Amino acid sequence: MNTGGNVSPDPHGVPESLYLNGAYLPLVDGRIGVEDRGFQLGDGVYEVVKVVNGRLLWLEDHLQRLVWSLGQIRLQHALRGHALDRVLPRLVALSGVQQGTVYLQVTRGVAPRDFPFPDEVEPTVLAYTRPAEPPAPEAVLAGTTVHPVEDVRWARCDIKSTNLLAAVLAKQAARDAGADEALFVGPGGVVREGGSSNVFAVFAGRVWTHPADTHILNGITRRHVIDLCARMGVEVVERAFTLEGLEAADEFFLVSTARDVMPVVAVGGRPLAGGRPGPVTLALADALRAEVARLVGLPAPPSLLHG
Ligand SMILES: Cc1ncc(COP(=O)(O)O)c(C=O)c1O
Repeated sequence: MNTGGNVSPDPHGVPESLYLNGAYLPLVDGRIGVEDRGFQLGDGVYEVVKVVNGRLLWLEDHLQRLVWSLGQIRLQHALRGHALDRVLPRLVALSGVQQGTVYLQVTRGVAPRDFPFPDEVEPTVLAYTRPAEPPAPEAVLAGTTVHPVEDVRWARCDIKSTNLLAAVLAKQAARDAGADEALFVGPGGVVREGGSSNVFAVFAGRVWTHPADTHILNGITRRHVIDLCARMGVEVVERAFTLEGLEAADEFFLVSTARDVMPVVAVGGRPLAGGRPGPVTLALADALRAEVARLVGLPAPPSLLHG
């Protein structure tokens, strides 16, 4: 067994390549201590970064959010000695992954099990690559479905914490109901966000989304979609709307690192807005795809709206 601290085989060309506490190795060879606080207590935070054309998309934004999350859990010192802005591109290059994701996790480390912070513990810092294709144009044009669930998560959903049990249960409930994504609904029927995505609704040409407060994760994709709206002259209203109000929406869509802009065509088994992706959603999906292509040096993809 290696602990990741002293072995650095070259994982060149291994799609699932791992960076673990300073070493680079194939993911299958990674080992974490049984008393890692991330494993036992969920005492950690994470990020998922998209890889497109072998490049890490919006890496700076993800690293800034990671540092912010670490600060919120009083673990800001964890990245000392880990220059992630250099480590992650190296990891992606070693892996050979062109399209996929990097999962990045930082925990308070391995220490005898107790709740308060241990003294003098080395945080666990890991990242690994995985190939994955972004949603195909046909999948975007077909749209997706969501299943509303009561939001029973904690009061700091703005921290990208590894405590994901409520999301696990919500997303399984969605799957059991035949839907693709959970939709977290708070008190008063307020639509907050998806199980692992942010949500937007279009009402009379204006795009509404829940404000970036402690009830949602302020997604990196959300932020870029809001910027794109501004560039396209589409007004954004960062105000909550309800599940009941959603019935009158002209369009509804999800955004996340994994799904980009994904139209929602049914909520709780009922078709929404004619059960077809709408023009504002598809224009934003086009704009996001074009922006991503530009950032990673690829030609602009064909339009979904006009293609
Ligand atoms: C609860 C939640 N909201 C929103 C998002 C979307 O965030 P991002 O666009 O940074 O992927 C995620 C991503 O995992 C999430 O877990």
